[in-house]
Amino acid sequence: MSVGKRVGIVGAGNVGATVAYSLVMLGACHEVILRDNKIDVARGKALDMSQAASAVRSHTVVKVAEEMSDLINCDVVVITAGSPRLPGMSRDDLLMINAKITKEVIQGVAKYSPDAIIIMVSNPLDAMTYVALKESGFDRSRVIGMAGILDSSRMAAFIQEKLGYGGGQIRASVMGGHGDDMVPLPRYSTVAGVPLSDVLTDAEIEEIVERTRKGGAEIVGHLKTGSAYYAPAKSTAIMVNAILKDTKQIYPCAVLLEGEYGFNDVVSGVPVMIGANGAEKILEVTLNEQEKEMFKNSCESVQGLIDTLKTNNFFDGE
Ligand code: 2OP
Repeated sequence: MSVGKRVGIVGAGNVGATVAYSLVMLGACHEVILRDNKIDVARGKALDMSQAASAVRSHTVVKVAEEMSDLINCDVVVITAGSPRLPGMSRDDLLMINAKITKEVIQGVAKYSPDAIIIMVSNPLDAMTYVALKESGFDRSRVIGMAGILDSSRMAAFIQEKLGYGGGQIRASVMGGHGDDMVPLPRYSTVAGVPLSDVLTDAEIEEIVERTRKGGAEIVGHLKTGSAYYAPAKSTAIMVNAILKDTKQIYPCAVLLEGEYGFNDVVSGVPVMIGANGAEKILEVTLNEQEKEMFKNSCESVQGLIDTLKTNNFFDGE
């Protein structure tokens, strides 16, 4: 009998637990293993989800890793560990706190699940993906950041709200980093194949673009004690499922650029083909001058965070 697929999730907070729940509901893998310093919380959630699995006749089992060393031989490891975004905080305020947490966690992942594909979810997302790349030593195809699916889903939801129709038929496109200068691309967004510019005015499109950029903060503003988790978790589960099922479908994801779009040694969100080997191919979309400029600004913001880490001697041996 072949050994089933195993997904590790580091951080059993709202995002991590909801990723686990989505995977259980999908029956995406044989085992989900939750790792959290609050072991009793992880235990309680694992039991609860195993019972939900029984309810829907899902074969997925949810277990708890008491130590990082229990997170062994995972096919995919999702990293949600870190301090969440609180009201008034930008994603970048989390830089140093979450970089330290990420470093420690990734060293454990590289040791105990050396063949895993890592999906980063912790913020600031693009910089944490870069940290995970450096600390794991994995090939760039095996360290992928989740953000583009979330941001484009937000943009699609805002388009639907504005139009009042088209739900489930909207394809919105967002590239760049998961920051305030992300790059929503109305030109590549459609409603059942109809270009956005045929159904909305320029002013309406601009409003949607701005709301997308601030989509995370809008939810933080309502929740007050934390940030979004249903859409971030579902977006992550979509990536995990694409890897486990080797779908080779295209999703916007954060990956290390090595010359693509004219950038090097920086992480940004671009369309990526996801399959059993992780980020198997990066697609280069033709951007106009204005879009290129926005993408450049976004990459420079991420570069600024990476430079801050470097200036603080964060990376060993550099
Ligand atoms: C979000 O966009 C906080 O980055 C997280 O919801």
